Amino acid sequence: MSRDLFRIVLLEQLDAVCGRIAFSSGSAPLDRYFHQQVTQDIRRRVTACFVALSKEEQIAGYYTLASASILLNDLPATIRTKLPRYPSVPAIRMGRLAIDSNFQGQGLGGALLADALHRAVHSEIAAFAMVVDAKDNSALAFYRHHGFISFPDSPRTLFLPLKTVTAAQRTT
Ligand SMILES: CC(C)(COP(=O)(O)OP(=O)(O)OC[C@H]1O[C@@H](n2cnc3c(N)ncnc32)[C@H](O)[C@@H]1OP(=O)(O)O)[C@@H](O)C(=O)NCCC(=O)NCCS
Repeated sequence: MSRDLFRIVLLEQLDAVCGRIAFSSGSAPLDRYFHQQVTQDIRRRVTACFVALSKEEQIAGYYTLASASILLNDLPATIRTKLPRYPSVPAIRMGRLAIDSNFQGQGLGGALLADALHRAVHSEIAAFAMVVDAKDNSALAFYRHHGFISFPDSPRTLFLPLKTVTAAQRTT
């Protein structure tokens, strides 16, 4: 997918509703959240929401980011033993990711995930990993395809150590 086809902006930078209600990913909870709830969460500073706009200024996809933490004991032992003995480590949660049905399968989901990881890696505030919640098996497969690892005790919640992203960026 060419990045020139879309621009990614904060939702609050858009005029009013700006076609938000027309957004449809095929996932009712993700659509409902975007139509009805997200602006309230932004106002309360519990989430940030980024949207991808097509050349025609249609909303083609969105994702949300918020700070989070991971309990050290929830991580696989192989990773835990390499971390300091704090009770938890800082993380960034991509709470939601959805692509409008008209734009699915064209690389935009992968591009938005890469954009979120880029923001997380380049933040001045440290985070050990990005955390995501997969709503179904298809989402689980999508995140695993992109290198995310399931938490041993809750496989639908996954994480990606941000160190692996910076290492990958160094080799590309
Ligand atoms: C899941 C979703 C975000 C994927 O976005 P998309 O734009 O359709 O996917 P892309 O075209 O960017 O695919 C990028 C890569 O992921 C792979 N991929 C896409 N969907 C996949 C799936 N369900 N399982 C495994 N791999 C998948 C593609 O094959 C592609 O691989 P490649 O880069 O090696 O060629 C999108 O289909 C969607 O919004 N679905 C409904 C909501 C949802 O399930 N959200 C997930 C968060 S809970």
